Amino acid sequence: MVPVQAQVLPTGQESGIVPEKIRDGIDLQVNGEHYRHTGDPQMPLLWYLRDVLRLTGTKYGSEYGENGADLVLLDGNAVSAITQPIAALAGKAVVTVEGLAAADGTLHPLQQAFIDEDAIGCGYCTPGWLIAGVDLLRRKPHPGDADIDQLPNLCRCGCQTRVRRAIKRAAAGKAALP
Ligand code: FES
Repeated sequence: MVPVQAQVLPTGQESGIVPEKIRDGIDLQVNGEHYRHTGDPQMPLLWYLRDVLRLTGTKYGSEYGENGADLVLLDGNAVSAITQPIAALAGKAVVTVEGLAAADGTLHPLQQAFIDEDAIGCGYCTPGWLIAGVDLLRRKPHPGDADIDQLPNLCRCGCQTRVRRAIKRAAAGKAALP
């Protein structure tokens, strides 16, 4: 039997491979918790949420985020998570759909309104609608149909009419009524 010889690998200098410097990390808050990201600073927030933190409520819609499925609140404003590199989020606060309910599990009034109005089909678009709706209600406490129709969200299940009713129900403060 021929003896197996250990392979001698070239050193960094010989191979021309220069190891990356150890990164300091990027600090951000997600749903009130502090996190430090030490991976690729250009990683889109959407993949950080889904693949690293396992917060899978925020959905992939497209690489440009134009259909609203990947919306999160960034310092209170709805933004597309696929278009935000972690490098741009140092010191910022992100809220995902998982962060909308109260700590004791009480649903956000808009979540309750979606249930009350049966505004959920397959549910893929729902987290994005909820984030967009929370942002809209903050900017315009009593939105009309035209305001709601201007949101970037799309629903392939045809729930737009019920989504309108749900957002207006939450605006009217009826979300928790039987
Ligand atoms: S509920 Fe299915 S895409 Fe909107």
